Parts: sequence; structure tokens; C-alpha cells
Amino acid sequence: MTQRVAVLVSGTGSNLQALIDAHIEDAQIVRVISNVMTAAALRRAADAGIPVSFIDHRGRKRVDFDRETRDQLLEDEVDWVVLAGFMRILGPDVLDAFPDRIINIHPSLLPAFPGLNAPAQAFRAGVAIAGCTVHLVDAGADTGPILAQTAVPVHPDDDEEALRQRILAAEHLLLPRVLRALVQGKLRKGTKRTYLDAPTSKDVLSNPNIGEPHG
Ligand code: GRF
Repeated sequence: MTQRVAVLVSGTGSNLQALIDAHIEDAQIVRVISNVMTAAALRRAADAGIPVSFIDHRGRKRVDFDRETRDQLLEDEVDWVVLAGFMRILGPDVLDAFPDRIINIHPSLLPAFPGLNAPAQAFRAGVAIAGCTVHLVDAGADTGPILAQTAVPVHPDDDEEALRQRILAAEHLLLPRVLRALVQGKLRKGTKRTYLDAPTSKDVLSNPNIGEPHG
């Protein structure tokens, strides 16, 4: 049976675009919610005919933002919530309404480099292998159970931006694969996947979805 998916965004929305373009059988994106009114992701959603909501977090209590978000997700009867470049920490009101049903994509091999600007953190740390992670969301920042990861090499002539883009291109492959596996019941908490087919530099250069840094 088709499962209903909401995607929460704050920025460019290239991961949202990857999900849209993947046309995952058994998964329908029924809503995109942004906490940033000007997020390019909202335009991508609208262009794909997906209902959008702007839920402002500014000047209000966290709990009020969370409850409005939760109520929208409940009204949409979603089965899965995907955080794709969503720059807020969700509180218990949302988490408790969708236990083990909220996933996040993060541009590092967690638990290394949680938080903001993870590709830059990895670059500055001098790692040889970077990557991205999809994990279940808990109350922490990038701390929930890991579901799947892709390793991405750091090249000798990289700068921070080159590495960020190579990781982002890997995210665009990883996130749809994980969502597909979840809706098909082939991946769940406690099982882990590693995808080794990191994109090449050429793939990155030809990928029109890659946008500005914001997470
Ligand atoms: C991605 O690197 C994501 O992992 C991070 O923010 C970035 C979002 O990019 N949390 P986009 O909005 O999907 O283009």
C-alpha cells in the first residue's frame, strides 16, 4: 500500500528534489513543510504539484512551532517524515507522534561531525574518508540510530566546497534508497546499510540539483 511521506525543509531542497525525481513506488510525498518562507525547496515542491506549508518558527515558543508542525503532519496522515535540510531540532510533541518514523539526512559519517557545516568540519579535521548518514531522529542533534551511510573520499586537491558538493551528491543517492527500503519494510531500526557507490567528481559536476550551502 502507498505510504504517505512529508518532507521538512529549510533551504535549497536538492535532497527534496532527489526524492521527487526518484518516484519511489509505494511512497507519495503528500506535503512539504518549510520553516523558511523563501526556501527554494518550496518552489521545487510547488513545481512538482506537492502541497506546501510555511510554518514560521520566529518569535514564538518552540513548543508552539512543534505543535503546529505535528498537527499538520497528523492532518495529512503521514506515515514517514523526512528531514531534508531542515534546520530545526524537533521536540517531544512531534517525536512522540511519529515514533521511529522520522528520518534525517546528515552530511557526515555520524557520530563524527554532528551539527552545522559538517563537510567543513570534516575537511578541517583532515579526514581521508567523509560521507553522509541517514538516521532516525531523536531528541538530540544528529544523534538518533543510524540506518545507512555512504562513504565519500576526500581528494588531495579538494577544498571545502568541492568536498561539500561530493557529499551532497552522495546524499541524493542515499536518501531515496533509504526511504524506498523503509517503505518496503526492508530496513528498520537495528539494521544498517552501507552504500559504497559514492559518486565521482564527474557526477557532481553534472548534477543540476546541487545548491548553496545552508546546513
Ligand atoms: C544537506 O547537506 C543536508 O544533509 C544538510 O543540509 C543540506 C541540505 O541541502 N542537513 P538541500 O536543502 O537538500 O539542498
